[in-house]
Amino acid sequence: MSSLVKQLLLYTGSAALLVAVLWVGADYRQSVQATRPLLPVIFEHQDHTDTECFVCHHNFTDETGGGTCYSCHKYDLEIAHEMEDMFHTLCRDCHTETRLEGEEAGPVRSCDGCHLAEVFLSKVEID
Ligand code: HEC
Ligand code: HEC
Ligand code: HEC
Ligand code: HEC
Repeated sequence: MSSLVKQLLLYTGSAALLVAVLWVGADYRQSVQATRPLLPVIFEHQDHTDTECFVCHHNFTDETGGGTCYSCHKYDLEIAHEMEDMFHTLCRDCHTETRLEGEEAGPVRSCDGCHLAEVFLSKVEID
């Protein structure tokens, strides 16, 4: 075998290995996300009565199905890995935009404005 062919085989071999490792890694990450406890959130409907239900409850209208947000977003492996991103975008973007309009809104940056502070503190102690 020419050294060029050997090198090519080596490259494709390690590329395949890398893909496999990334693939298994992504799968593992998703299952960890779905099985660790949900980080509790402070959310009151009474703070959000000016917003139509379906802005958040998209599943009431778009036929994705039934259930509570987390029954899908936390436990459905297809989308669980996107929950942090999706929910931060939904919640924070509206708070940011509302504040930019000069009105009262919920937290944007302070983690413990939405997540229970005790959870963060107990995590710090445990770790
Ligand atoms: C700003 C976003 C938002 C709006 C607007 C909103 N909800 Fe929700 N709703 C949520 C979130 C987030 C949850 C899950 C968290 C929770 O249960 O506290 C939820 C949970 C629920 C639940 C399930 C409670 C349970 O635990 O089983 C019902 C029922 C519900 N909402 C009905 C409504 C109705 C009806 C409206 C409109 C009048 C509405 N929501 C408006 C975000 C919203
Ligand atoms: C029956 C399952 C189901 C329920 C219940 C559900 N969702 Fe979803 N949600 C989905 C699916 C599926 C998507 C689409 C994912 C994609 O685009 O790949 C999605 C997308 C989203 C997105 C991203 C939208 C975008 O444009 O990127 C947000 C934010 C979201 N959901 C929030 C919520 C909230 C808040 C609740 C509860 C009030 C909720 N979802 C209830 C299944 C569900
Ligand atoms: C469409 C806009 C909108 C969306 C989406 C939204 N919020 Fe809000 N939120 C508000 C507004 C406006 C207020 C202020 C209400 C008031 O003070 O009367 C608020 C208030 C709050 C507060 C109370 C803050 C305080 O100081 O008491 C919390 C907590 C909160 N939101 C969490 C959330 C979470 C968590 C989500 C996502 C699941 C969310 N919000 C989605 C508009 C929104
Ligand atoms: C506007 C409200 C809001 C703020 C501010 C916020 N979060 Fe979140 N966060 C949420 C919501 C809603 C979810 C999805 C539901 C849940 O995990 O309970 C979430 C999910 C998460 C998750 C994923 C949890 C899981 O079970 O997979 C992490 C991690 C997280 N947030 C960390 C943070 C950190 C760190 C900060 C501060 C830099 C922060 N959040 C600020 C609302 C907020």
